[in-house]
Amino acid sequence: MNKSSIALFSALALFLSACGTPKAVVEQAAPAESTGMVAAKAKFPGYTAADFDAGQALYQGNCGRCHGLYGPRSHSEAQWSEVVPRMVVKANKKAQATVISPEGEQLILRYLFAASN
Ligand code: HEC
Repeated sequence: MNKSSIALFSALALFLSACGTPKAVVEQAAPAESTGMVAAKAKFPGYTAADFDAGQALYQGNCGRCHGLYGPRSHSEAQWSEVVPRMVVKANKKAQATVISPEGEQLILRYLFAASN
């Protein structure tokens, strides 16, 4: 992210918080009975709040290293399923270690699904 995009982002964040609609922030948590959690549980049998938290932690810990974190709603489910595997390769290559395993990749995809529905 360059300086002007950081400034723009800060201005946008200020503007949004001033309006009382911090959408980017709202996306972070999926309370147990949010529509996203209900949809994720229906789609992925056995999906739990702990899975959501684990996916969110992996996403936040690894996916903002080279660029800003994209909001879960910034891409469709089909787009995420194309982008995430591609980015997992990049993340592991950069870390020179398996920081995101195949299971971790699934947790991230499910987190993005739950957080965007
Ligand atoms: C090693 C650096 C690196 C890491 C780590 C990384 N990315 Fe990226 N990402 C890039 C680069 C470079 C691009 C632009 C080129 C491209 O699309 O391949 C990009 C582009 C993107 C895009 C826009 C591409 C599109 O087609 O819409 C998304 C979304 C994205 N990354 C998500 C993620 C997610 C999710 C993770 C974590 C799994 C992640 N990135 C981790 C380097 C990284």
